[in-house]
Amino acid sequence: MTDNIAPRASDSFSITRPDDWHLHVRDGDALRTVVPHSAAQFARAVIMPNLKPPVTTVAQALDYAARIRATLPSGSDFEPLMTLYLTDDLNPDEILRASATRSGGTAAQVVAVKLYPAGATTNSAAGVTDLRKTYPALEAMQRAGMPLLVHGEVTSPEIDLFDREAVFIDTHLTGLRRDFPELRIVLEHITTKEAAHYVRDAGPNTAATITAHHLLYNRNAIFTGGICPHYYCLPVLKRETHRLALVQAATSGDPHFFLGTDSAPHATHLKEHAAGCAGCYTAFSAMEMYTEVFDTANALERLEAFASFHGPDFYRLPRNTGRITMARRPWQMPQAFAFGEGSLTPLRAGQTLPWKLQ
Ligand code: DOR
Ligand code: ZN
Repeated sequence: MTDNIAPRASDSFSITRPDDWHLHVRDGDALRTVVPHSAAQFARAVIMPNLKPPVTTVAQALDYAARIRATLPSGSDFEPLMTLYLTDDLNPDEILRASATRSGGTAAQVVAVKLYPAGATTNSAAGVTDLRKTYPALEAMQRAGMPLLVHGEVTSPEIDLFDREAVFIDTHLTGLRRDFPELRIVLEHITTKEAAHYVRDAGPNTAATITAHHLLYNRNAIFTGGICPHYYCLPVLKRETHRLALVQAATSGDPHFFLGTDSAPHATHLKEHAAGCAGCYTAFSAMEMYTEVFDTANALERLEAFASFHGPDFYRLPRNTGRITMARRPWQMPQAFAFGEGSLTPLRAGQTLPWKLQ
């Protein structure tokens, strides 16, 4: 037997500038911490509308975009891509107004509408109680080519928390797909083998985002060495077989799958709490984490398509032209960031990460 002398993967590489197709930045003081982090990593990000109160009109979305832009470092060309929050009574006229922003002339674009089943997650109380009630809005979206972004979990208390995504696919998504075959649907932050396989087989009008944390961790992370609230998010981390299916989907080169961090900042004291909030803060080091996943899977050559091509292609937006460089250079994640009156603990606080965005 000869020694195994597999070539060492290169210590640095560059790819087209990536985008984040699912991001929470909140509002007010929080923006000053988190917007510069995302702007350092990504050219664009799809901004979730689950504020209190939710972003339900184009006018609110454009105002929100202006507040986000106001916190950008000087010289940054980061572009927030805005979304509307779907409610039972969202007026189809609002979809037409949203669609009109995509032809330019407004300060920002409203690119999609987000479906939260009422009660599924953070600030989802105003979400959808009955999908049928949203059909007039969905018809307008199908006609306009406006994507529907789906938090795909049922909320019934009798359904086990770990099964809520798989049950949503069977009881809601397949019916929606049948009733609106041309509607462009993104199943957000998928966490299960069932979701990965559904999307893979669903044809060109369905896609999915995958977070870094669901690629890196299984549910053991929440419970190892005591309860670890910084690994708690929704949909909750699943077992290892599901994580492996997500890694397979992300690294497969399949255009159905693209990057969406679901970075969801909550103040440290609200995560480390008797009823800790759901959400992992990953925006500061998102590309570092995704690079680690693809490196571990021996698939670095597929990172660019996942991070920089499949998203804009699905949203029918131009791909970015600039480039970023990732280097194998271990560094330590900060313990916390200042966050308004409190602090913000990132996922992997204090840990060493192998890759660094240059
Ligand atoms: O973990 C999560 N946090 N999942 C979501 O769906 C919402 C998000 C948030 O806004 O905090
Ligand atoms: Zn989210």
